Amino acid sequence: MVKAIVVTGSVCSGKTTVAKKIAKKYKYNYIDVNKLIKDKKLYDGYDKELDSYIVDEDKLVRFLKKLVDESKKKLVIDSHMGHYLPKKYVEVCIVTKCDLKELKKRLKKRKYKPNKIRQNLDAEIFDTCLVEAKEAGHQVRVIDTTGGVKEVIL
Ligand SMILES: Nc1ncnc2c1ncn2[C@@H]1O[C@H](COP(=O)(O)OP(=O)(O)OP(=O)(O)O)[C@@H](O)[C@H]1O
Ligand SMILES: [Mg+2]
Repeated sequence: MVKAIVVTGSVCSGKTTVAKKIAKKYKYNYIDVNKLIKDKKLYDGYDKELDSYIVDEDKLVRFLKKLVDESKKKLVIDSHMGHYLPKKYVEVCIVTKCDLKELKKRLKKRKYKPNKIRQNLDAEIFDTCLVEAKEAGHQVRVIDTTGGVKEVIL
């Protein structure tokens, strides 16, 4: 099994930007988990208040484990739930972070509802992904995307 690179972090913190850069530079396979959730129906329903799918975490983790297990190439997993993968599947867990003022700007630009903006800012304030990634025992690396992302050297 080729262990994966996970890119996790709060919504709009720069996961996709970082994950795509890594995949391009090292010729790894980029995995768009948001798309997978929709395509493979890895959800329990839809939260209209938050305008987002309610992800079935067990299903998602099962799916990702299989993906990593069966892949001959290294995968770059772009998801704020990527750190739910057990440690043995993950080479490094990158957590993207962003300054709160800048994050608020990015969230507003996406035209998210105020409660969704609030919830996502709180997740960044409490470092939810970072704390959970550390608790899971991953080898964690933090990348701050506030001022932009030039090159990511693994
Ligand atoms: N360095 C930057 N400066 C300004 N804007 C940026 C920067 N990096 C990313 N953005 C913008 O911030 C938004 C979030 O970036 P990105 O899509 O990489 O985050 P994400 O963590 O993948 O978000 P999501 O959780 O919604 O998938 C994007 O709209 C992007 O255009
Ligand atoms: Mg993204």
